[in-house]
Amino acid sequence: MSRISETRTSDVLVIGGGIIGLVTAWRAAQRGLRVAVADPEPGGGAAQVAAGMLAAVTELHYGEQTLLGLNLESARRYPAFVAELEEASGASVGYRACGTLAVALDADDRAHLRELHALQRRSGLESEWLTGRECRRLEPMLAPGVRGGLRVDGDHQVDPRRLAAALVTACERAGVVFHRGWAERLLVVRDRARGALLTDGDDVTADQVVLAGGSLSGRLGGVPAEVLPPVRPVKGQVLRLTVPRPYAPFLSRTVRAVVRGSHVYLVPRENGELVVGATSEELGWDTTVTAGGVYELLRDAHELVPGLTELPLTETRAGLRPASPDNAPLLGPTALPGLHLATGHHRNGVLLTPVTGDVLAAVLVTGELPDVARPFTPRRFSPVPQEQPA
Ligand code: GLY
Repeated sequence: MSRISETRTSDVLVIGGGIIGLVTAWRAAQRGLRVAVADPEPGGGAAQVAAGMLAAVTELHYGEQTLLGLNLESARRYPAFVAELEEASGASVGYRACGTLAVALDADDRAHLRELHALQRRSGLESEWLTGRECRRLEPMLAPGVRGGLRVDGDHQVDPRRLAAALVTACERAGVVFHRGWAERLLVVRDRARGALLTDGDDVTADQVVLAGGSLSGRLGGVPAEVLPPVRPVKGQVLRLTVPRPYAPFLSRTVRAVVRGSHVYLVPRENGELVVGATSEELGWDTTVTAGGVYELLRDAHELVPGLTELPLTETRAGLRPASPDNAPLLGPTALPGLHLATGHHRNGVLLTPVTGDVLAAVLVTGELPDVARPFTPRRFSPVPQEQPA
């Protein structure tokens, strides 16, 4: 017996209403497509936890040169993207072109930072080496022990919660339809993705489906194994402190460091919020905030900026980064006709929001993956056909 359900039809169904799904929906709707988004809580997800650093240069890693190109392209698009989104939503997203200072506390950290500086220069990126004294002149709250640092004026920040809220409004105003249920199962009809079955009982049919479910993207039922995205959750615990008005500005830019091998960053917002992140833990779908996680973040942040322990601790939270095997996103068509991916953004979801929206909208309208996104095709993880023995 078939279950009783209501069927809705659109040109595009986006599965997942985090910032990546929302920007895809907004950009596709702007290009004239009828778009639906399936998510019980649009605007939720990892963006509610993320600090919002736009750190293409200070988060550069060895072996991620190709990803760097995409990150820089998205950073370049950010100011125009923010202006357009703020106009469309009528809301500010807290974008700040404040720059970033990456500092070292001991000889090991300093050597690590020198290597990063060399890699940045080889990659043609702008970053300036400063002495400890010069760092403290820029940021007087830094610890006296700071041994040197890298000033990167091109790494900015945005408030991911405000970004998500603005994207929801922009989607609504552009006519995107929200279905407040989980997508349980992909509908595949005659070897083509045709929509999804939702937990609220609705079937949403669509000519094209974008799977943008963050760290849950690999769990959607009905997706053939060979196109299931290889994403896994990487937990990040993040703290929020509040700088009381008389003490502001506590820091004028993002300050970060590697302390005994762990990354710590402090992101100051204009409204007094100070975000301290983040752990990086491979613990499946666990989002528990642990005493150990909070302790380590506060210990490392305190070494950088001792005055921080005076501030009220207003929030502790953990989120899940959707990580792929090469730390780069999966963007565009899969081997299953009609199914596209926009997932696997790992540490760079907020940074890659503008370029992801543009790329996915282009694919949905033209069927072609733009050149900037070609290295990030999901097909790079497709199983290579093995030669059969004669
Ligand atoms: N990009 C910052 C983080 O993933 O923690």
